Amino acid sequence: MRTVHTIAELRAQVAAWRQAGERVAFVPTMGNLHRGHIHLVERAREQAPRTVASIFVNPTQFGPNEDFAGYPRTLAEDARQLKAAGLDVLFAPPVAEIYPRPLEDMTAVTVPELSGILCGASRPTHFRGVATVVGKLFNMVQPDAALFGEKDWQQLMIIRRLVEDLNFPIEIIGVPTVRETDGLAMSSRNGYLTSQERAIAPALYATLSASAQRLRAGERDYQRLADDAKAALAAAGFRPDYFEIRRAGDLKPPSGEDTHLRILAAAWLGKARLIDNLAV
Ligand code: PAF
Repeated sequence: MRTVHTIAELRAQVAAWRQAGERVAFVPTMGNLHRGHIHLVERAREQAPRTVASIFVNPTQFGPNEDFAGYPRTLAEDARQLKAAGLDVLFAPPVAEIYPRPLEDMTAVTVPELSGILCGASRPTHFRGVATVVGKLFNMVQPDAALFGEKDWQQLMIIRRLVEDLNFPIEIIGVPTVRETDGLAMSSRNGYLTSQERAIAPALYATLSASAQRLRAGERDYQRLADDAKAALAAAGFRPDYFEIRRAGDLKPPSGEDTHLRILAAAWLGKARLIDNLAV
């Protein structure tokens, strides 16, 4: 595995592969990798003979009072795991390589219809930062396919829309969430949990599963399902942010006839804001 820190080195490497007619698959990350990320790399290797991952803690997707400064930076250990997973190139740029001008002066990308709801309601600038950096990374790597975890379902839908609206010739592949044995979705932010909070954390998945079961049994009072779920989360020790049943593709509130639903939730546990979702 080769680690590169500049766009020029990355482009030269990808151009050489392209000249040899090789397909490229890409896994963008912010590092502090866990088994879910490594699973994305393994899936990427099934998609293409050449694989690139990026590690970049993107300042524009963190709000002013969020954890950008404290976000764990574990490059050496991440590189070790990626090498063991068989990755070809790790792109780990410094902030100035991605944002050479003051952030407020730089061009940004917004996906308006999907960015102000769910996580975007409490993190108003988050998805603009995500869409901007992912668009930039796509232009830098120019992959044939890019893989994203389904744990960030809203992010995945926003990236699909970004690719459609801006005509990126990239196949977006969603990969099912990797879970701990007790159901907790793997996330870099699980590391913020104390051992007491870690024992409570699987209640998020359990609550989503209970709502999914009620939906499958035919219940269609979405508001009641959400209210019950928020009460269950609060009783378990969470501070719920949202719990919503939406149409899976466009995240709009469902009508009684919609069949492809997604239950999405975010809740605080101590200083960790956990998110998760389930298909119904
Ligand atoms: O999902 C993430 O880790 C980030 O939002 C991403 C897609 C790497 C953009 O910074």
